[in-house]
Amino acid sequence: MHVLVTAGPTREYLDDVRFISNASSGAMGYAVAEAAAAKGHSVVLVTGPVAVEPPEGTEIVEVVSAIDMQQAVESRFAEADAVVMTAAVCDYRPESRLEGKIKKTGDGMTLRLEQNPDILARLGRLKQDRILVGFALEAGLARDNALEKLRGKNLDFVVLDTPEAMRARRATFIIIAADGSEEILTDAPKRTVAERIIQLIEQKGRT
Ligand code: CTP
Repeated sequence: MHVLVTAGPTREYLDDVRFISNASSGAMGYAVAEAAAAKGHSVVLVTGPVAVEPPEGTEIVEVVSAIDMQQAVESRFAEADAVVMTAAVCDYRPESRLEGKIKKTGDGMTLRLEQNPDILARLGRLKQDRILVGFALEAGLARDNALEKLRGKNLDFVVLDTPEAMRARRATFIIIAADGSEEILTDAPKRTVAERIIQLIEQKGRT
């Protein structure tokens, strides 16, 4: 299968040196890409800036902003059989980016933000028979919010975890399928979760 994976944070620059981002390490997405490549799938990994070694046998596409990520993902979507969106895409970007460096004025400062596109929601509208897997980072593993994302973004699976999982090596994940069935992976390493996601994609691809 052709598997498209996104990983890491995006960066939304306000001038040439400063940006808004988040604490995503990229570990989950890199583990998914590695697990898919190990099973012989053809893998494209679209990644925000991270400090993780790229997995062997995958095509790496480096991006910075959410808009860059959207372009990279959409240009490769036609050939994909499955997409796993682990990336922590910034929901907002500064309304404008200043060339050079914003100077301090001795006063406070208000930063105006505008919304970024929801990459996965758009893929959900274009998906046809592709398999889509999204992540939902919810405090307290709130299932209702994850289910809303599953339905709202037209996903086949949503992987629910908590903000604490972002930088942790092991965490509890709940994988919820579109038919409402779910499985809980308790205190699991990201590699185990990645391998399970790939298994589910393979099973779904065969039906
Ligand atoms: N996602 C995306 N584009 C965005 C924001 C999120 O493709 N602009 C994807 C993420 O990669 C993830 C899923 O959507 O697979 C859920 O992201 P999350 O940030 O948890 O949810 P949001 O829909 O942005 O809602 P909120 O932040 O309000 O919880």
